[in-house]
Amino acid sequence: MNHVDKPLVGILMGSASDWDTMAAAHKTLDEFDVAHECNVISAHRAPEALVEYVKSAEKRGIEVFIAGAGMAAALPGVVAAHTSVPVLGVPVESGAMGGQDALHAIVQMPPGIPVGTLAIGKAGAKNAALLAVSILANKYPPLKTALETYRATQTRKALEAKLPVD
Ligand code: RP5
Repeated sequence: MNHVDKPLVGILMGSASDWDTMAAAHKTLDEFDVAHECNVISAHRAPEALVEYVKSAEKRGIEVFIAGAGMAAALPGVVAAHTSVPVLGVPVESGAMGGQDALHAIVQMPPGIPVGTLAIGKAGAKNAALLAVSILANKYPPLKTALETYRATQTRKALEAKLPVD
């Protein structure tokens, strides 16, 4: 990533079944050439491994965590409980409630341990990566430039949009 090779973002998910959603965060970070790592560590199936990972990742220099989970979605909150590094939570669209359950679980953190909560599903995963880039851009100027270019391209494409009418 713009002269920084060690991972700066840790993408976590509660299950391999979350990858279809969380791949959007991975792809977006790749677009910005931000070094990152992706891991499956469940808050309820592997709680001790999760704490170990979060603590070691912070020591290794991870500057933002993106945590995606579905259903009761404890993962982002548990990650945030073990680090002061910013945690961005992505509610995964899964289970009987289609991600509404995960959204409420993640967004309703009691005061004291914040999780920045994004939209349900792939849109949220993509925006989590963009927000991570924004956070990192405060420290890494080339990312600020890359974000401005990304926004300008997006604006140009939006203005060029054509409707299928005569
Ligand atoms: C959550 O339970 C995971 O984040 C996943 O979204 C959901 C279902 O997990 P699997 O049963 O597919 O492993 O912990």
